Amino acid sequence: MRILLTGGCGFIGSAVVRYLIEHTAHHVLNVDCMTYAASAENLSDIASNARYTHALIDIRNGGALRQVFDEYQPEAVMHLAAESHVDRSIDGPDAFVQTNVMGTYTLLEAARGYWHALSVEKKEAFRFLHISTDEVFGHLSKEDPPFTEATPYDPRSPYSATKAASDHLVRAWHSTYGMPTFVTNTTNNYGPRHFPEKLVPLMIIKALKRERLPVYGQGQNIRDWLYVEDHAEALVRAVERGVPGQTYAIGARQPHTNLDVVRKICAIVDELRPDHLEPRERLIDFVSDRPGHDFRYEIDPSHAERSLDWTATHSLDAGLRKTVQWYIDHQSWWQMIMDQRYNGQRLGKGS
Ligand code: NAD
Ligand code: DAU
Repeated sequence: MRILLTGGCGFIGSAVVRYLIEHTAHHVLNVDCMTYAASAENLSDIASNARYTHALIDIRNGGALRQVFDEYQPEAVMHLAAESHVDRSIDGPDAFVQTNVMGTYTLLEAARGYWHALSVEKKEAFRFLHISTDEVFGHLSKEDPPFTEATPYDPRSPYSATKAASDHLVRAWHSTYGMPTFVTNTTNNYGPRHFPEKLVPLMIIKALKRERLPVYGQGQNIRDWLYVEDHAEALVRAVERGVPGQTYAIGARQPHTNLDVVRKICAIVDELRPDHLEPRERLIDFVSDRPGHDFRYEIDPSHAERSLDWTATHSLDAGLRKTVQWYIDHQSWWQMIMDQRYNGQRLGKGS
């Protein structure tokens, strides 16, 4: 297939592009306008591959998108481009409405114009996969069963509200126009190339530097942690086998409190970077909570596992170990982001 993929220079997008190039014969056109969250180095190992191309286009630019659809003639779209950080959405929701809602709408319309003109056969084979989040379902108490595809939407942050809006648009384009769209809703990812302001990379970097580790509230919030390469595999299966109109809720069956995750990271860093000082766990600092902080996310991935013939293979311990090792081996990657994009400012609240 020729796949037009958006957001390929970000954390998950780059893992998906790498998976497509290294494990399949598909061709990829990566539409990414390179926001603060993007890094060209994320794809430096496959950038010269003949099956890969990058188009520096903002998904809010309908004219540029229409041109690229006409020129590239994709057989599928994988839409990952988004503003993705909850804390940023609280500080400045505008970019989230612009990219997640208007950008998705603009992409859908460009795709619809292109799709409409295809032959009947190609129209039927075309796929539009929208990559979304479990945050659209709101949050769970300790006793609630995990989210499934049937859980009603109840987004609570500007980020999740804009992702929910984009999910509704994508489904409406299927029911109204018959476009072969479908949606995946996934739990928290972690792994190599994760932007250093999200929990896991932030804690690894701070633990390596022996800085205070800012845990919101009492660290009792629960997330279901999926290793990014497992997610990339699931998304490729989804674009190959997904049924239009369906939803696939993708999770790892690995729920842990934030405190648990931070303690695990500290123990791994202590082991891989021993320095005879106090255990890094003592650097944990309970700081003021995120406003409207969702308590618990967890997905029941049974439907996706059955339909896509996929399960997450990394345990949290194994995935964290690989991730910590990657950050130890790639200090120049995160150091450059911190120096250039933050002008020396420290990352993370409470630091
Ligand atoms: P990210 O922030 O790391 O990367 C986003 C990418 O999109 C960047 O390369 C950026 O340059 C690009 N982008 C942003 N706005 C754009 C625009 N207007 N035009 C073109 N490109 C633009 O994000 P991520 O963590 O890799 O998440 C990717 C997708 O997966 C998002 O849609 C997110 O909502 C979803 N998701 C993420 C997680 C997670 O744990 N990170 C979990 C579930 C779902
Ligand atoms: O559930 C999927 C979502 O996971 C994705 O849709 C989002 O794009 C992705 O960013 C992620 O959202 P979270 O808000 O769960 O991720 P974050 O890494 O920001 O925070 C994880 C948890 O850790 C959350 O409960 C807040 C807490 N936290 C976060 C930071 C940055 C801290 O305690 N301290 C911190 O410094």
